Formats: sequence, structure tokens, C-alpha cells
Amino acid sequence: MSALLEVRDLHTHFFTRAGVVRAVEGVSFSLARGEILGLVGESGSGKSVTGFSLIGLVDPPGRIVSGSIRFDGQELVGLPQAAMRRLRGARIAMVFQDPAATLNPVLTIGQQMALAVRAHGRASEAAARDLAARTLTRVGIPDAAARLDAYPHEFSGGMRQRVAIATALLHGPELIVADEPTTALDVSIQAQILAEMKKLAKESGTALVWISHDLATVSSLADRVLVMYAGRIVESGGVSETLRAPRHPYTRGLLDSLPATARPGEKLNQIPGSTPSLLALPPGCPFAPRCPRADAACATDPPDVVTGGRLVRCHHPLAVAA
Ligand SMILES: Nc1ncnc2c1ncn2[C@@H]1O[C@H](COP(=O)(O)OP(=O)(O)OP(=O)(O)O)[C@@H](O)[C@H]1O
Ligand SMILES: [Mg+2]
Repeated sequence: MSALLEVRDLHTHFFTRAGVVRAVEGVSFSLARGEILGLVGESGSGKSVTGFSLIGLVDPPGRIVSGSIRFDGQELVGLPQAAMRRLRGARIAMVFQDPAATLNPVLTIGQQMALAVRAHGRASEAAARDLAARTLTRVGIPDAAARLDAYPHEFSGGMRQRVAIATALLHGPELIVADEPTTALDVSIQAQILAEMKKLAKESGTALVWISHDLATVSSLADRVLVMYAGRIVESGGVSETLRAPRHPYTRGLLDSLPATARPGEKLNQIPGSTPSLLALPPGCPFAPRCPRADAACATDPPDVVTGGRLVRCHHPLAVAA
């Protein structure tokens, strides 16, 4: 089966006064229809810039400097803005962490959702409102039909975020790129949205790129996971194998710093040090300065080790559990 999305050796850089920020450095992955891919990593690892690259929304001083993004066979790198905008409206949807970026403050929720419906096909006003109300119900907004006449400022932050998610679902996109979409929501609503996303992927074949800090959410939602560090993918694979038995010391460190793995009263095992500046990375493995397994070999670029559908970029990967 050919992939819906095929990303090859993507490099996205920001040309700042301080120098070139290499936010995405050689990212490759593919995504099948109906597949859910989790993209995880610490703050500043390049998750959002990867997401923005996919949907053609990297703004100056940033740009995609090389690589390829094929969506259903069509190359998106270098595609004219207008064509990209059409794709984003119809076949690719996105949800951002900040719903203020998506919602228009001067239109009611119903007006903007109806606009989104009618921009992509004929629908009577009544049919558009009906679809909007049904979609809001799917993301856990009670009494949705009555709330269509409210303005965004009348909703809580969590409710606005659910409206943004519902708007992304409206016209059945083939790909959704969601950047920390449920981080601000409480746990029960989050669970409902995750269930809705899974259903969507399974029943409609929608593919999902789910960007999150939250390994727990990703492990319950995603089929596969990409672990990013300093703009690169350091490990990827099926979500349960990768998170149960990580091979990259960085993935291990992320898992060890989860509150759930510490006993009450015990200190969390934070990864020592902090993420490096992407302005001037020394050669070799970018994680080496923080890595318990690092030695002299790590001053050279780590190899891609591929075993059984799993990739790890490391000189000293952890052993595969027997
Ligand atoms: N407009 C910009 N100008 C310069 N550098 C930028 C710009 N946007 C992002 N970057 C840099 O790109 C790198 C990756 O940022 P990105 O936002 O993708 O991280 P992230 O993994 O999404 O982090 P978080 O978890 O905090 O959202 C960071 O070093 C960031 O400083
Ligand atoms: Mg981000």
C-alpha cells in the first residue's frame, strides 16, 4: 500500500540574526491512511516546526531548505501558496495548541463553522448548522445546537479548543496535523477526544500526526511514534514496543522522567542538563552531553540502526529485550 504522506530528508531552518537555527534536520517518515503517528520530544526538539512544515505554514525567517513531502503522491515542497491553501482547506486539517489562532472573535461559533462547511461544498445554511452541531457533540460539547450562537469569548479555553478540533473534523480531511491539541483539556474530555480520533482514523481512514509532550496520551492513541531530539528523529517504531522497550537512551530518559514511573515521595529522574541550542550544534550525537551511555564514539554522527521496523540512531543503543 502506498503511503498517504511520505517525508524524506526534510530540513527546515530559521535564518535569524544570531545565525541559522536548524530546527528540523533530516526528518524522514511515512504515514499510511488511517494511521496515527505520535511525535514526541522535549520542548524545542522541533515537533511544531515539523508540523508547520507539513502544512506549508513555516513563516520567514524560516523555510524548508531541502527534502520532500509527498501527500498522496503530490510534492508539497515548493507548491504555490494558493494550491497549498486549497489543500489545507479540503484535504489536510490542523489543530493548534492555541485555539485563538483558529477562531475568529467577531463571528459566532455557528457562523464560522458554517462558513468552513460551505467553503468546501454546497450545503444549505440549515444543513451546515446541523453538521456543525453534530460535530461539536462528537468532541464533548453539551447542548451543541444551542451554543452555535455563542461567540468564542463566551467559551472557556477548553471549549474553544474543542471547537477548533471540531472545525478540523468538519469536512472529513484525509490528514490531520494536531499540535498539543488536548494539553489544556481536562482528563475526561481528553479521553473522549482521543476516542473520537481513534474512531475517525479507523472508520474514515483519516491519518493523524499527533504532536505531544505527553507520552501517556501518545501511547494510548498512536500506532507508531517518532521521538525527536534537536531537530532529528532519534528513535521510531510501533508505539507499544518503542515505549515498553526503548532503545535510545533519550527515549529511556523521557520515560524515566514520567511521574507515573516514580514511587510516591521519590524524586523524578529528570534527564540531566538541557536541550542544546540549535544554532551551533557540535558534530556527533546531539544527545551525547546528557547521555549516560556516551563515550568517545559519540563525537561522530550516530548510525541509523534498523531492526524489525524500529529505527534507533545511536552508537550504543539499549539491547532489545529478550
Ligand atoms: N520563528 C522562529 N525563529 C527562530 N527560531 C525558531 C522559530 N520557530 C521555532 N524556532 C526554533 O526551532 C526549534 C524547534 O522549535 P519547535 O517549536 O518546533 O519545538 P517543539 O518541539 O514544538 O517545542 P514545544 O514542545 O515547546 O512546543 C527551537 O529551537 C525554536 O527556538
Ligand atoms: Mg511545539
